[in-house]
Amino acid sequence: MSAVIVAIDGPSGTGKSSTSKAVAAALGLSYLDTGAQYRAVTWWMLTNGVPVDDSAAVAAAAERPVIVSGTDPAAPTISVDGTDASGPIRTKEVTSAVSAVSAVPEVRAVITALQRSIAAEAVGGIVVEGRDIGTTVLPDADLKIFLTASPEARASRRSGELKGKEATDLSATREALIKRDAADSGRKASPLKMADDAVEVDTTPLTLEQVVECVVTLVEKAV
Ligand code: C5P
Repeated sequence: MSAVIVAIDGPSGTGKSSTSKAVAAALGLSYLDTGAQYRAVTWWMLTNGVPVDDSAAVAAAAERPVIVSGTDPAAPTISVDGTDASGPIRTKEVTSAVSAVSAVPEVRAVITALQRSIAAEAVGGIVVEGRDIGTTVLPDADLKIFLTASPEARASRRSGELKGKEATDLSATREALIKRDAADSGRKASPLKMADDAVEVDTTPLTLEQVVECVVTLVEKAV
């Protein structure tokens, strides 16, 4: 298979990360979690005292953090200024602030350029997951998938992921997801949106294995 590029977009809790990693592993491709990059910038802003609700301050700092993403689907890593940020980027504070930071066009310009260079250098190909991969970052991807799921399914999957890490409440998780998706879909700069040529996969009634099988089949047909 020559360097195949697969874009997997969709709202939070639709199984993008689990699906993307498993598809990449099954096909021997690299993997890039673009949400982790926006979380890493957000974590850097929070730890460096940048007021995340001040878009001018966020824009002015957008080029400062040095984000490095590892692309092994079995062990994806992310570091900021040389420090492993895999744990800190998953905190509640980062999750609450990330939509405001990712809506700032200067942040998106820096991160989009980084994503394109990682994809261009991925020997053999890559699965890239996010919100605007098919529409903006890699509009020429060989295959574009848009994952969806009911709000109930998304909230219960996200609660399952959080269990043990922090207190979880299903309805609060559901509200937080809906709020984040509304912010991500409603922003001016590269909003969460299905590309016209994407294949929509509703994961609500499917197991992870079924979704992975479906996407792997679509990749094999596309190349
Ligand atoms: O996928 P994850 O939930 O980790 O993404 C965190 C946030 O990063 C999203 O809610 C969104 O604000 C932002 N994001 C984005 N564009 C992407 C990927 C993520 O704006 N391609």
